[in-house]
Amino acid sequence: MLEDWDFFVLEPGEGFLEPQKVFDNQKPLHLEIGSGKGEFLSQYAPLHPQWNFLGLEAADKRIRNILKKINSERHSNVRLMRMMVDAGIAQLLPPESVACVYIQHPDPWPKRRHHRRRLFQPEFLKALAQVMEPGAELHIATDHKEYSIWIAEMMLKQAEYVSLQNEVIQNSPSLQDHVATWYETEQRRQGFEPHFMLFKRI
Ligand SMILES: C[S@@+](CC[C@H](N)C(=O)[O-])C[C@H]1O[C@@H](n2cnc3c(N)ncnc32)[C@H](O)[C@@H]1O
Repeated sequence: MLEDWDFFVLEPGEGFLEPQKVFDNQKPLHLEIGSGKGEFLSQYAPLHPQWNFLGLEAADKRIRNILKKINSERHSNVRLMRMMVDAGIAQLLPPESVACVYIQHPDPWPKRRHHRRRLFQPEFLKALAQVMEPGAELHIATDHKEYSIWIAEMMLKQAEYVSLQNEVIQNSPSLQDHVATWYETEQRRQGFEPHFMLFKRI
């Protein structure tokens, strides 16, 4: 387990993280924010060895959950970092270094007085746009209807992004090889259908 931790978990350092050094190759970097229990990284990354995957996850416990699902043979293209993501992401990753971003079931913070804790805020979206390459995709899923509308409104106000779907919010996954995450499965069981969005960094 400790060996896995050393292989997979990156420690924040001075200056930008250098993806080419971390993965020892030049493959495009895909970023998952809020990796939870790791269903997506553990199932999706082995299907796409042509890409590198970095999972940013705030909770130590979740990092440990993810480590139980991955191993250095099948998941050599995966790394994790424990980080509470916000606009500071522009200090972590070099400008235009990310080819694709996945944010699946971000905490909805449903109470109005907690809305300011939501990840989708203008400052964060501007910072995320800085680290995304032009043309990079942002895949979003949430089971929370009101938060899906909040996200769509925030995204459409940002000049850096454009929706790639006819309907900005739709009920079918934006990824062909969609992985049902723990939250998606759990929320569906409780009767909440996920909402999917797909944007491109202009
Ligand atoms: C509702 S869960 C969804 C997890 C997973 N994506 C899924 O669909 O099963 C939200 C996850 O995001 C993490 N998280 C919440 N805010 C975060 C932030 N600002 N930066 C990184 N991770 C965050 C939480 O610790 C939790 O694991």
